[in-house]
Amino acid sequence: MKTYRVAILGCRSRGTSAARVYQAHPRTNVVGLCDLLEDRSKSLGDELGVAGRFTDLDEMIRQTQPDIVAIPTAPYLHAPLALRVLEHGVHIEVEKPMGMDLLETDSVMEKAEEKGVQVAVHHQWRLHAWAQAISKYYESGKIGELRYIYASGKGYYGGFGLMEIGTHLLNSMIKFGGHCQSVTAHATRRGRPITPKDVLPAPRGNGTIAGDNVTASLQFPNGVTGTLLQHHLESNDVNAHVIELYGTEGRLLWHTQGAWHLPNPHMVPENNLDRWEKLTPLYPESFEEAAKKIPDGSTTEGDYWFVEEYVRALDERRPHECSGHEGRHVVEIIMGIFESAAYGTRVDLPQSDREHPLLRWRKETGLGPPDPMPMIDKEWLEEENRGAG
Ligand SMILES: NC(=O)c1ccc[n+]([C@@H]2O[C@H](COP(=O)([O-])OP(=O)(O)OC[C@H]3O[C@@H](n4cnc5c(N)ncnc54)[C@H](O)[C@@H]3O)[C@@H](O)[C@H]2O)c1
Repeated sequence: MKTYRVAILGCRSRGTSAARVYQAHPRTNVVGLCDLLEDRSKSLGDELGVAGRFTDLDEMIRQTQPDIVAIPTAPYLHAPLALRVLEHGVHIEVEKPMGMDLLETDSVMEKAEEKGVQVAVHHQWRLHAWAQAISKYYESGKIGELRYIYASGKGYYGGFGLMEIGTHLLNSMIKFGGHCQSVTAHATRRGRPITPKDVLPAPRGNGTIAGDNVTASLQFPNGVTGTLLQHHLESNDVNAHVIELYGTEGRLLWHTQGAWHLPNPHMVPENNLDRWEKLTPLYPESFEEAAKKIPDGSTTEGDYWFVEEYVRALDERRPHECSGHEGRHVVEIIMGIFESAAYGTRVDLPQSDREHPLLRWRKETGLGPPDPMPMIDKEWLEEENRGAG
């Protein structure tokens, strides 16, 4: 059985998690670490016993000949770095979201197709142990036929939350609902509908956004519908963070604290509260041994499942479950949500105009791209608050 060679491009927080998990998995081996800041690849290399440390990504790929290159960098760098890495004809995984608009995601997919390699997008929530438990119940018909999917972020500023957390939620929603056919959305800033002047660069280099509260209604195949809430809460609240599947015979719910099954389609508190059954999380066979090698191994099971799925996908010569195809569709939905909220119309997907709809909206009213904003959340929120009056 082949051991896949992996190189990591970007060695800070997410790169460290990715490198630890790839190094711990029995079928993957980290052969190269690259960061513009040498001390980052050095300390990670020292921890994991990886000798190949680089500051130049092309040099790393030439010297280490990886099968997969992971790209855990700031969002605005995902597509530019993915394109550079793909030139080498290697498989990639790129952090979420896949790109800042559809022009970017299209160019990444075209390059991957030209080179005959895979793109996977790091939407590990679709694969983590609770999601596996949900999938098992769902596939065994426990909730009957799917009717509706509800999802909510954990309270970030709406448009930013959509790029930062909505990307995960949507990728999980399309797992069950299939590809979204159309979107209708509302976005408000301090309670009034957004205008072109409310379009802003997001914190953390997460593209162009608008709205502190965003609510989207999604139409999936077979009459299934969904709602996605990205509402700005006073402080982030993991308990707001949830996905729920409503079927003809029951419901499945999961958030960061677990996953539950209700064997009834409707919630009647006095009859149903004690009928919610907590599910058992599911791990890959090799996880227990591997987790011993990962500092804080228990919390990295989603990343571990993501690697496990890459190994299986490459072995079986099929796309990763969180493929670029799925990742691009997530960006189609996000752009559809912004477009619908801006223009007040239903948006059919996939859209033929691939330009960022909020930038197009501004252009049509004679405005250029919005002025730069701070990258750090707290400073960004202060500046946004000033702007909102
Ligand atoms: N999947 C998840 O659950 C999850 C959770 C949190 C964050 N994220 C995503 O992770 C990303 C942020 O990760 P982070 O906080 O570790 O990022 P970061 O920006 O702090 O670190 C990126 C590292 O990459 C290096 N780098 C950038 N360009 C480079 C280049 N050309 N060559 C070599 N090195 C380069 C930087 O020096 C830096 O050390 C974001 O995309 C975010 O959306 C995902």
